[in-house]
Amino acid sequence: MNRTQKLRKAMPWLYKLYLWIQRGPMHEVNLIKVACSDYWRYRKYSFRDKTSSVDLDNLTSVIIKYAHSIEKGFSMPEFRPGFGRSVLEALIVQMAKYDSQGYDHQTLAYQKAQSVLAEYISCHKAIDYDLGEFRDVLMPWVDESSGVGGYTEINGNEMLASAAGDFAACAISRRSVRNYRDKRVNMDDIRDAVRIARQTPSACNRQCWHTYIIRDPEMRANVLALQNGNRGFGHCADFVAVITADMKGFAGAGERHGTYIDGGLYAMSLMYALHYKGIGTCPLNWMVLPSVDKKLRQLLRLSPSENTIMMISGGLILDHFRVAKSARKSIDDQLTIL
Ligand SMILES: Cc1cc2nc3c(=O)[nH]c(=O)nc-3n(C[C@H](O)[C@H](O)[C@H](O)COP(=O)(O)O)c2cc1C
Repeated sequence: MNRTQKLRKAMPWLYKLYLWIQRGPMHEVNLIKVACSDYWRYRKYSFRDKTSSVDLDNLTSVIIKYAHSIEKGFSMPEFRPGFGRSVLEALIVQMAKYDSQGYDHQTLAYQKAQSVLAEYISCHKAIDYDLGEFRDVLMPWVDESSGVGGYTEINGNEMLASAAGDFAACAISRRSVRNYRDKRVNMDDIRDAVRIARQTPSACNRQCWHTYIIRDPEMRANVLALQNGNRGFGHCADFVAVITADMKGFAGAGERHGTYIDGGLYAMSLMYALHYKGIGTCPLNWMVLPSVDKKLRQLLRLSPSENTIMMISGGLILDHFRVAKSARKSIDDQLTIL
């Protein structure tokens, strides 16, 4: 018999009081404690904005983010000559900061940035577009030797074959697709993808997620207007999926991140399943402040207890298209065996 069971037997009135304290005041105290802990930890280890990195991890992630933003430009439906100038300028400032702090150049982040800049110059050269004096600003930071940045040409049929292959082939061939065929996706395929994705495990099998598929052009445009990462390609998508998860399925302070964990796992399964069904997808972040979140809630009439996890744009893939290289860190960087 444990202590609570002993208390229940010996002094039932005290046990009732104990339960009341646990479920009432203690629950409130726990919620405040975890909110404060989340606040302090995020405040300590994240950084205010892209210019205020305080350590190598912050800086590396800013460089990757800026370089990726340029890399994405190569995979858009239309190549916009001279694109991304302000991002390039910001990238160079961060590379200079990296340099001045004496960090190693043989890292994925730095090499990716150098190689994305090299690709930027060569893409413009290929179409005889004169970058003017800006080319001289970029040149000192260019190095194409690593080849880890830029774009990859994709053959649509090969991608479809891999997607329908074994799991490793399907997972490895999935890429963020930002260029879609002008043809409607069959809704039966989406239903089938949801059938596959619902096998996602969830804490105690609660399955608190929901998928909204937005096909209506006006509503799709309104939803995408609230999302900050689909410029240049969102308008070509056949549909936008909004993945939500409901907080009503979770209890107690310890489960406060449940919607994001179960919902995130589900969103990934859905992307694999859509890929398996031959539908190209691009995950779209929903990392927004409450004021923007409120607008989406109103637009989609979401329940107040639903958290939006992320969005996914989707459409049929083309015969040939480009994707951003998005090189991965090494396995050793990502794996510790204890
Ligand atoms: C949570 C999440 C949010 C993302 N948000 C965006 C976005 O807003 N716009 C975009 O173009 N790509 C977005 N991406 C796609 C990433 O840039 C992409 O997954 C990454 O570069 C790896 O490339 P891959 O998907 O081709 O393997 C997002 C990915 C994730 C997982």
